[in-house]
Order: sequence, then C-alpha cells, then structure tokens
Amino acid sequence: MTQDEAKALVGRRAAELVKDGMRVGLGTGTTSVMFIKALGERVRAGLKIRCVASSDASHNLGLSLGMDVVTLAELPELDLYVDGADEVGPELALIKGGGGALLREKIVASAADRFVVVVDSTKVVRVLGRFPLPVEVVKMALPLVERKLSDLGLRPKLRHHSDGSVYMTDEDNFILDCACGTIPEPEETAAEIRGIVGVVEHGLFLGMTSMVLVAGDDGVTELTE
Ligand code: A5P
Repeated sequence: MTQDEAKALVGRRAAELVKDGMRVGLGTGTTSVMFIKALGERVRAGLKIRCVASSDASHNLGLSLGMDVVTLAELPELDLYVDGADEVGPELALIKGGGGALLREKIVASAADRFVVVVDSTKVVRVLGRFPLPVEVVKMALPLVERKLSDLGLRPKLRHHSDGSVYMTDEDNFILDCACGTIPEPEETAAEIRGIVGVVEHGLFLGMTSMVLVAGDDGVTELTE
C-alpha cells in the first residue's frame, strides 16, 4: 500500500465515526484532506453535521464540499475532532504542526470531547523528535525566542516557503522548526518551551489524544491507551 492509499483508507475509516447531529472538528494536512473528502461524500448522501476547521484551507475545503462549516465562536463545543499528526509516540503523544496549523489545531482539539488522530504507519515512533518540532512565535519576539530555544539545545530554524518567503501562520505568527533529534521527556521539553515569553504554542500534543487510527499493509489498527 502506498502512503497516499494509506491516508485515503484511514481518512475514510475516521469518517465512519461521525454520526448524525455531531459537531465535528476538521483537521489540517494531507490525511485530514482525505477525511474531509470522505465526510463530504457522507454529507452529500444526507448526513447532518456542523463543523469547525483548524485552518482556513480546511474551512474552505469543507465549504466547497457543501458542508456546514462555521467558526469556533459559533460552535465552541465539539463531539469529535479528527486530525493527522507528524509523529505518534508513547502514550499517544504527538508532534503536530508540519502543516503550520498547530495553534488552531490545539485549540480545536481542546474544544472536542474526543480527539481521533489519523496516520499512516510511518508516523508511529518509539521516541518523538526526529520530525522537527514546530514552535509558533509572536513576530516581535522572534530573535529572543530563537536564542532561548538555541540555549535549550533545540536548534530552531525559521520556516520558509519553497519560494524563499517567510512562512506566516493563519494567526500571522512565525514558526521555528526545532531539530531536537529526540525528545525523551516530552512533558519536560513542553514546559521549557512554554516558559519562554513570546512563544504562542508548540507542536507537542500531550495527554490530548483519545485514539489513533493507523493505516498500514494490514489495514487500519486502533491505538488507545
Ligand atoms: C498540520 O499543521 C499538521 O499538524 C498536520 O496534521 C500534520 O502535519 C500531518 O499532516 P499530513 O497528514 O499531511 O502528514
């Protein structure tokens, strides 16, 4: 199975979790796109749901598929949030934000009763940290935060687009991608990063995941704690 086939499979499986009347959070990234498209098909077939998205891109995709997508202010409590991840480690700890939406993703996840993560099997790791950890930073604080993250040994690098322009989030902040290598104690690392003034959010999602759906050659496996 290719990685794209795995993403499509797990996206469809997650869409089956959605029931009539649910308030659903739409994640961001290529796997979430598969979920949103599969959910869009169910909506076209008559499923009645209301949605909130964790990025402008997913919001617009949902609308284009005829889904009822509103703001979090209009729908502040959700039954289910489905999103991808860049890494899934022990205790269902995650690194997220490769697509740059970590802040809104964490907000939407925290508004949901259940947070279901959809990944292909390449994302499951023994120790987090090989994927660069994204840290969202207020523009004014960039030099300060960059220095403090370096002092922690986290090797931050300002994110750019492929055309060389600086990447800005939907909330108009910078992202520093930290080449940590390994993150053996995620809680500790999260606390250290949180302690830096000017950091808006980091991509460690700890104690938030309800279930992970992993697609691989044997189909979809459920990971729960
Ligand atoms: C978006 O900011 C991210 O957190 C994504 O959910 C994560 O990068 C996974 O993306 P893919 O499904 O595209 O791998």
